[in-house]
Amino acid sequence: MSPIKAVRGVRDILPAETRRWQRVEAAAHRVFEAYGYREIRVPLFERTELFARGIGDETDIVKKEMYTFDDRSGESLTLRPEATASVLRAYIEHGFHVEPKPVRLYTMGPMFRYERPQAGRYRQFHQANVEALGETHPALDAEVIAMLMDFFGALGLADRLELRVNSIGDAGTRPAYIARLVDYLGPRRAELCGECRARLDRNPLRVLDCKTPGCQPIIEKAPSILDSLSREAARHFDTVRECLEAMGVAHTVDPRLVRGLDYYVRTTFEVLTAELGAQNAVAGGGRYDGLIAQLEGPADPGIGFAIGLERVVLLLGGDERGTGPLAVLIPLGEAALRRLLPAARRARQGGVPVELGYGIRKLPRELERANRLGAAWAVIAGDNELARGLALLRDMRSGEQRAVPLDGLADELIRLRAEGAGPR
Ligand code: HAM
Repeated sequence: MSPIKAVRGVRDILPAETRRWQRVEAAAHRVFEAYGYREIRVPLFERTELFARGIGDETDIVKKEMYTFDDRSGESLTLRPEATASVLRAYIEHGFHVEPKPVRLYTMGPMFRYERPQAGRYRQFHQANVEALGETHPALDAEVIAMLMDFFGALGLADRLELRVNSIGDAGTRPAYIARLVDYLGPRRAELCGECRARLDRNPLRVLDCKTPGCQPIIEKAPSILDSLSREAARHFDTVRECLEAMGVAHTVDPRLVRGLDYYVRTTFEVLTAELGAQNAVAGGGRYDGLIAQLEGPADPGIGFAIGLERVVLLLGGDERGTGPLAVLIPLGEAALRRLLPAARRARQGGVPVELGYGIRKLPRELERANRLGAAWAVIAGDNELARGLALLRDMRSGEQRAVPLDGLADELIRLRAEGAGPR
């Protein structure tokens, strides 16, 4: 029998990476909270119906990518493929709509989609997800987008990313555009890839999103959705862009940006990178004004986005060693161990990361271990030192040693740390 491995498309986030994850998560908390968003934590699974109704029966997500199972009572449940539907369910269930609008919520955590795994695309992945609910003003759209770019700015990534925006119009006027699109694509059906031929029947807008090279010349000449916007939708989009410009948020208009979920109306946007191959979207979002009502909630509008955190972490690059201990405490024998054990505890209580040997290895082995751990100091206590109530404090870089009283050892380590000493 061979050892059990992680499921395909599902990965461990190893210690060498977790510092970067913490940095990304801290930036999200900091930036979102500065804009007045509050964190909400929603369950990892919901009734299947929520996603079917929320995301759309005809989307790839609902048709092919959900992890759906019956629980022991026969109820159909689904691991969340995204967070928006869950956040809206919670918004309705807990009566958030009576709060001052817009209600601003964010959440972070794993999502699950049965997609073909490749670099930057996984079956369990993580999003930072933001929703602003109950306000239609286009300045909110611009503010949400500006916040997204501020998140990337806080991580020093803004220069490596491109923001694309579009308006896909209102639910009321979109059918007219779709009819024009079908008129254009219908005669060219044979030239489209198999996937696009199927989309043409099921969800023609999605053809615009195809990445197959053969489809590109056809897509490029397709009628632009921006020419079919209602007067209100066009005005909304103009104001979004003016507000973005007023805040100095650089963006490109991309009339083919339609997104893969059915709930969007008016503003849609994505943040793209040229550095991750085919998985070029690091974030995406848009407005979804009919969705809360569709989930049997009040007729409140909403807008939001989600950031793909794996992709952000990939862009940040460079494994980090993680911080090692400031000091390794090396007792040479059982009696010394009993003196160093409480000293280690006191140092740790003072916030100083220390490691402790257990008196079972010889000194050269212990010093080699301290070196490998990257410790700045080793603290050595053998019988001779112990008899005098001392330990030897060894600078791992220079090899210099000095005696310190065992009683004051923890305080000495806390002082060294406060002076700025850190692991190597
Ligand atoms: P989405 O475009 O499906 O939107 O996903 C947002 C981001 O999640 C993508 O741009 C990508 O970075 C990341 N992502 C998606 N699938 C994967 C995957 N299999 N592996 C790694 N990363 C992935 C939504 O989910 C919407 N709920 C966003 C939203 C919130 N719209 C309004 N509010």
